[in-house]
Amino acid sequence: MSHPTPDSNHDALWLPFTANRQFRDAPRMLVSAKGMYYRDDKGNEVLDGCAGLWCVNAGHARPRIVEAVQKTVATLDFAPAFQMGHPLAFEAADRIARLAPNPLNHVFFCNSGSEAGDTALKIALAYHRLRGEGARTRLIGRERGYHGVGFGGISVGGISGNRKLYGSMLNGVDHLPHTLDLRRNAFSRGLPEHGAELADALERIVALHDASTIAAVIVEPMAGSTGVLPAPKGYLKRLREICTRHGILLIFDEVITGFGRLGASFASEKYGVVPDIMTIAKGVTNGTIPMGANIVSDEVFDAFMQGPREAIDLPHGYTYTAHPVACAAAIATLDTYAEEHLFERAAALSPYFEEAAHSLRDAPHVIDIRNEGLVAGIELAPRAASTTRAYEVFERAFHAGVLLRYTGDIIAVSPPLIIEKAEIDRIFETIGTILRSLD
Ligand SMILES: Cc1ncc(COP(=O)(O)O)c(C=O)c1O
Repeated sequence: MSHPTPDSNHDALWLPFTANRQFRDAPRMLVSAKGMYYRDDKGNEVLDGCAGLWCVNAGHARPRIVEAVQKTVATLDFAPAFQMGHPLAFEAADRIARLAPNPLNHVFFCNSGSEAGDTALKIALAYHRLRGEGARTRLIGRERGYHGVGFGGISVGGISGNRKLYGSMLNGVDHLPHTLDLRRNAFSRGLPEHGAELADALERIVALHDASTIAAVIVEPMAGSTGVLPAPKGYLKRLREICTRHGILLIFDEVITGFGRLGASFASEKYGVVPDIMTIAKGVTNGTIPMGANIVSDEVFDAFMQGPREAIDLPHGYTYTAHPVACAAAIATLDTYAEEHLFERAAALSPYFEEAAHSLRDAPHVIDIRNEGLVAGIELAPRAASTTRAYEVFERAFHAGVLLRYTGDIIAVSPPLIIEKAEIDRIFETIGTILRSLD
């Protein structure tokens, strides 16, 4: 039996975040994956330079995870999560809560980062309402933020291309300024030196609207999808202080930064700044089975546990909340991370990775290189043509056997944490070679 290809079945599949007609002219097809490598439909190996989509942190087809998924699907293929439980859900929640910093001790499952973002905003609104502060309805995001594609996520998100087609979105949303400052911080290694004071914009929003109207602030500790913007030194701590001062909940979107990407369990742990609510997804199951979650503090959780015992405390949830197969994948993933010390490995490798990324400093068209943990963003000078150089790098790198991400003029590298030094070299050498061939 022959499989449908983009040529034989050209309009049935509508790809997300893709120029579909351009794609069909030259499809990129993946057919299998193992360890650090994909294989394409022509039999070529493709080095995974972006952990699939920032999610396959332990590398592909890891035996423990594969076995757990296979065993669970044959034992408990589905279990409803409303008014019902199953042991894997409790175990997965317990494992995740143990990994998260205190007092983030309570896990509410969903199926993606987008659902986690919208869930976090709903929890924040409900929290204030239950505590008698129902006027706190305003939500604050940040320019260039990415919190998925739900209406809540795009409302607090700050990437205009993801917002402009979709009308007025949620009311009562403001945005902090983004933290990219090429003039002061270009070619920073790790967290940029300048910009902690950008958090003070929250004080101005408070002065404008009054704290009594503001429910929550949501930020990524390192903005990923917009093109790798590590937070300036001291910025997150300052944001935390301002939120605490005004009774505003702080939400960290750790969908990318969680599970070892920055060389620690979470950015929150690495920077010593603990939010009230954390959203996670991606690396929680190593990308194997869709899963997202909110991890909330004792204080937030307790606010929901005050009403009558028989009353539903959070009228929210999904058919696939705590899906048994996803829970099994999460437990096996956390076991794999721990057994192989992958978060520590990422931390130990990051100086080498940083050096390799910054070796491109003098390559043509490069105007900035940013890095933190095992993530790097390489920003290229814009050009007049409608196709960005970063797209061309992505496309040519794929044909040279290296999978990258790009967004606008920025190339992003975020490999599985099992990557070897020679593979790091190969990724950045491939990018350098392509850059030297571009106009
Ligand atoms: C920080 C962040 N939040 C949320 C999301 C959305 O996650 P999903 O695509 O699983 O809905 C992403 C996806 O890249 C993300 O990077």
